[in-house]
Amino acid sequence: MKKLIDLITETVEQGFSACGYEASLGKVTLSNRPDLCEYQCNGAMAGAKLYKKAPIMIAQDVAVRLENESCFEEITAVPPGFINIKLSGEFLSGYLREMEEADRLGVSYEGKKEKIVIDYGGPNVAKPLHVGHLRSAIIGESMKRLFRFLGHEVIGDVHLGDWGLQMGLIIEELKERRPELPYFDEGYTGEYPEEPPFTIGELEEIYPAASAKAKADEAFAKKAHDATYKLQRGDRGYMAVWNHILNVSVADLKKNYEKLNVTFDIWKKESDAQPYIPAMIEKMKEEGFAHESQGALVVDVKEETDTKEIPPCILLKSDGATLYSTTDLATLVEREKLFAPDRVLYVVDKRQELHFTQVFRCAKKTGIVRPETKLDFLGFGTMNGKDGKPFKTRDGGVMRLEYLIREISDAVYDKIMENRTVSEEEARDTASVIGLAALKYGDLSNQASKDYIFDVDRFIAFEGNTGPYILYTIVRIKSIQARYNALESRWEGKAEILPAATESEKELQLQVSRVSDALLAAASEQAPHKICQYIYELAEAFNRFYHETKIMAEEDGERQASYICLLGLVRRVLETCIDILGFEAPDRM
Ligand code: ARG
Repeated sequence: MKKLIDLITETVEQGFSACGYEASLGKVTLSNRPDLCEYQCNGAMAGAKLYKKAPIMIAQDVAVRLENESCFEEITAVPPGFINIKLSGEFLSGYLREMEEADRLGVSYEGKKEKIVIDYGGPNVAKPLHVGHLRSAIIGESMKRLFRFLGHEVIGDVHLGDWGLQMGLIIEELKERRPELPYFDEGYTGEYPEEPPFTIGELEEIYPAASAKAKADEAFAKKAHDATYKLQRGDRGYMAVWNHILNVSVADLKKNYEKLNVTFDIWKKESDAQPYIPAMIEKMKEEGFAHESQGALVVDVKEETDTKEIPPCILLKSDGATLYSTTDLATLVEREKLFAPDRVLYVVDKRQELHFTQVFRCAKKTGIVRPETKLDFLGFGTMNGKDGKPFKTRDGGVMRLEYLIREISDAVYDKIMENRTVSEEEARDTASVIGLAALKYGDLSNQASKDYIFDVDRFIAFEGNTGPYILYTIVRIKSIQARYNALESRWEGKAEILPAATESEKELQLQVSRVSDALLAAASEQAPHKICQYIYELAEAFNRFYHETKIMAEEDGERQASYICLLGLVRRVLETCIDILGFEAPDRM
């Protein structure tokens, strides 16, 4: 379906051209004086210069011409030259009836349907999943669902970090603790055990211990480096340990992501890109892109228009080791080979922006990706504690994701138990559904690039711009629907959305009609907070309507049935949007 605002624009454009003016002046926008009108057109102001005529004259010409258009209840010219518009109730309710019938609420994306790889999550194997990765998972998941909703083909890739120093650290630490294991016996030629030599709990203890040791003990740090190198050269025993680390860690990660309602289509990892590196580097050298600089092999990526210095992209360090950028370039080689995507979107901490600028430029310049391939970076800010510093637990450690989810669910649980008499079990289930919504909405409702403060009390509030408020609105609708369905006598004629009878109902209908605008803008700007903003406004419009309207006591059966249809549509819009955001509503709360 066309967006409502585009339909009105078309009509106003026709008005301009029928009066002998440039049609493009007829662009309509949302009113910035909602007390006066619903939509407005400022084209007469721009037309004044063009036609050397007072803007109010032009506005009047057009308004008079369009006076009898059935889509307008009111179209008036006001000084100095605005055209103010109110839609006719019939036109608006008709649009909503069409939305009800259409696929996907009539939201249609007209542009090219792309194949998009989204690189998000990005956890590092063997390191606990912490809040730093939380944002990537939440934001990336919502972008994946949004793009998919609009008809793009999307491949979500977790892009595990499995190839860095952390592996050498763990291997070395394990070797010191249990030198008797066959993995460390150079002469061993038999099969290695299938059982991993550690549990996830042990693994999570080993890494921080090894990392701390490396900081304090230079000899150990050197050994860990050597172990990393040996692993990267394919040492048989080390590869076997690495495989164990990977399996144990991935199983745990999958569990965690499941709790977050985040799913990846592919579980690729940094190590998968390694086989592509030699040929990639060879080619860059041959084609003259790569050159030596202070012993390292680099590709220049600065451009004339740069306002700050963009250092060269380093492919190989002077000791021949590869870097994070080398891996990311090789990953693009692999993605091109496997998927040939139209777009690759990276959802990563904004502090990595320079890295991605270098990688993107290098990939374009050296032809790893096609010139028309879009490489996008959605950089997000830090989640801070109430003290304004990166979020930590009470004992000062980095908060583990699991605990964070639990903390939120527990707080919601307490709240439910305070004023409800549902069974403990139901309260637990509901609390985890609401808790996840609180967490995700608390994150997504902020512009991604901004830092934000993790504030449990604010996130779980049932009022204000929060996840629970949105869920509460949906639950309220469900309960009205249930009460209506249980009525003895209901309207037996055709039930459909009628023209709004009151201000608040019209406002609600207008909000419902704007779902396309919100979803399309969120996609094109890669800004899920626009969906939050929209559903918050919609929920507010609904609750205002609800407070001012006696739905269950309405005596006119046809009108009552129309309310119920409208409610049903509001619910579908809200549920569609929260599903895109990656959470759901309970039946009661
Ligand atoms: N593992 C990285 C980290 O923890 C994030 C990976 C982001 N994706 C990428 N292709 N570099 O910082």
